[in-house]
Amino acid sequence: MTSYAALYVEQVADKQFQQNIIERNIDDLPKGEVLIRVEYSSLNFKDALSAHGNKAVTRSYPHQPGIDAAGKVVESQVEDFREGDQVIVTGYDLGMNTAGGLGQFIRVPASWVVKAPPTITAKQAMQFGTAGLTAQLCISKLEHMGVRKEQGPVLVTGATGGVGSIAVALLANDGYEVVASSGKPEQADYLKSIGASKVIDRKELQEENPRPLLREEYAGAIDVVGGNTLGNVLKRIRHSGSVACCGLVESTNYAGNVLPHILRNVNLLGVDSVEIPLAAKRAAWEILATAASIPAMQTINEEIALADVMQALAGILNGRAKRHIVVNLG
Ligand SMILES: NC(=O)c1ccc[n+]([C@@H]2O[C@H](COP(=O)([O-])OP(=O)(O)OC[C@H]3O[C@@H](n4cnc5c(N)ncnc54)[C@H](OP(=O)(O)O)[C@@H]3O)[C@@H](O)[C@H]2O)c1
Repeated sequence: MTSYAALYVEQVADKQFQQNIIERNIDDLPKGEVLIRVEYSSLNFKDALSAHGNKAVTRSYPHQPGIDAAGKVVESQVEDFREGDQVIVTGYDLGMNTAGGLGQFIRVPASWVVKAPPTITAKQAMQFGTAGLTAQLCISKLEHMGVRKEQGPVLVTGATGGVGSIAVALLANDGYEVVASSGKPEQADYLKSIGASKVIDRKELQEENPRPLLREEYAGAIDVVGGNTLGNVLKRIRHSGSVACCGLVESTNYAGNVLPHILRNVNLLGVDSVEIPLAAKRAAWEILATAASIPAMQTINEEIALADVMQALAGILNGRAKRHIVVNLG
């Protein structure tokens, strides 16, 4: 029996949840083919929800959250993985109802595990985490639909957030002209330092606009916001451009009309990073590995220890988080 440290969330009353760092036992982990010593994790909005008792994310407690994990294989029941392999696990049920990456050990099905490309460390992988994986999936889908840097600027909404900031950095690193939409004017210099060439006020996109089409500005866009914003973004996309839609921070609905699609040939592309096949995740990690050392990833990320996770998750829930957070599990 080996014990390990983990964030553990317990329900103590009807709507009351308590978070503590406790010693757990490896024998208490769920059954699975691959036992992994987690070296780094990263924090997402979903982790904040799980840690605060949101039953749409985590059905039953007590629970060890963490939808992201990177580390080394300790035991494997399948030939594909051997002791010492460096691996990455994100999404599927990790950290939702399966003990997650905010603990020093996880045990998961082999079908959830990506062998890390040799040029990316566990820390660098978690500097991207699910946020970076989602940003890369958005970029790959835009490019698959024909978006190219020569065609004009690409807009990123929610630009100071996890997905948004990494999308800005990756697009700029690929040579795109990036316009960042943000509700935080005081973060304009930060957004420019990670690659935005222009920052616009998110209010510009949030106001309801009855016009079915607006001036064509962007070759493509990555939208984490939904709502009026997504509707207005679609109206500003140039002919044959595309919008990758991956989030809902403003609303799950959006104010759309068909004209951008039928008069300008504009595509609305859905992006999910959680349930897509493992091969698609592997392909995205191969691309992310080539950008692992870009200086913007240092600027975007703040590293914390497991002991500081509870405070950081409360900050994410209250909208106070300023950087993407990578967790060092020691
Ligand atoms: N599809 C997937 O697989 C997938 C994966 C990861 C995340 N997501 C979703 O993507 C979204 C973003 O995730 P994230 O991790 O980047 O979240 P995040 O770090 O909390 O960032 C969201 C950003 O959106 C902006 N924002 C916040 N409230 C807003 C509002 N009411 N209206 C407009 N903008 C607002 C803020 O940026 P500014 O102040 O700069 O505007 C904020 O930093 C979430 O909805 C998340 O659920 C989806």
